[in-house]
Amino acid sequence: MNKVQILLKFAEKITREKDVSRLLSLLSDVARDILDADRCSLFLSDMKNRTLWTIVAHGVKKIEIPWNKGIAGWVFQNGKSLIVNDAYSDYRFEKSVDLKTGYKTKNILAIPLINRKGEVIGVFQAINKLHGNYTEEDEELLTLLSGYAASAIENTALYKELNKAYKDTVLRLSHAAEFKDKETKNHILRTGLYAREIANYLHFDDELETIFLATQMHDIGKIGIPDAILLKPGKLSIEEREVMWQHTIIGYEILRGSKSKLLQIAALIALEHHERIDGYGYPYGKKGDEISIYGRIACIVDVFDALISNRPYKKAWPEEKVFEFLKENEGKMFDDDIVKAVLHKKDKLLEIKRRFKDEYKGS
Ligand SMILES: [Fe+2]
Ligand SMILES: [Fe+2]
Repeated sequence: MNKVQILLKFAEKITREKDVSRLLSLLSDVARDILDADRCSLFLSDMKNRTLWTIVAHGVKKIEIPWNKGIAGWVFQNGKSLIVNDAYSDYRFEKSVDLKTGYKTKNILAIPLINRKGEVIGVFQAINKLHGNYTEEDEELLTLLSGYAASAIENTALYKELNKAYKDTVLRLSHAAEFKDKETKNHILRTGLYAREIANYLHFDDELETIFLATQMHDIGKIGIPDAILLKPGKLSIEEREVMWQHTIIGYEILRGSKSKLLQIAALIALEHHERIDGYGYPYGKKGDEISIYGRIACIVDVFDALISNRPYKKAWPEEKVFEFLKENEGKMFDDDIVKAVLHKKDKLLEIKRRFKDEYKGS
């Protein structure tokens, strides 16, 4: 196969591949075939440990080297490509990797991976050309592939950062409600952590992170409740209680209608976390399966945490009494399976409670 045929063979796969590590391994295969090399490795930099590590390496397991050692280290530090046609006579070559792997490096072509800001983020390396020496044409081809690799890596990093910022924004929004409320920041966090444990027990493996975040938004609608009611120390009148109940619907209205699955589930949780399995909850008196599994989980973790914690207006219940209460309310307030999950995860939940204590004064 000539070089154009090799490129065409891989081109379609490369454009279709969405997974970055598979894409990088594909690019390494193309590089190896097109350059007639024995193997290729793709090093990325680890800023914290000041090393270069192989995200892809043909023929060997992960290699990690100081970021200023060897040919890869030189290319990384200088941001320049390098052709070394007799590795053992080059002062920059680091023999220790060969000694460790038992491989004999003859020649190397190494290209820096450069991001959009012009920073070097890694090194693409082709080792041991099968026939002859590396040429300038090889250098150009590997530079082209390095460009693809660098932008794929950068896009993934940007995506991750965006995703993190998005989740962070969502959580900060849920803490906005807490500024007005008597609840503590850690109550919100704990409900998310408990819910994640329960979801894990119930095998919602793909949704653990979503449930963790969405549960923490359960009381976001309290933002819309007047302070005179929300912060009233004593008992609420019937009318006031009805206003208070509106926090479920307000929360739902704030969160609904988004394309994001996280916000869709959070909207359901906001709406349903005070519904009861027997239909005596609020705001709609939904029964059993009419309440989503997310709402059913949020309901029990919210009550559990309220009972087991000190609040300015009440003392914490003893642990055993709390679990008794959950059991007594199986099929009334709570879903039987979720109560069982809570009992199974009892130690984990208590550990979460101990780890994330309340911070407000007077508790
Ligand atoms: Fe609530
Ligand atoms: Fe709550």
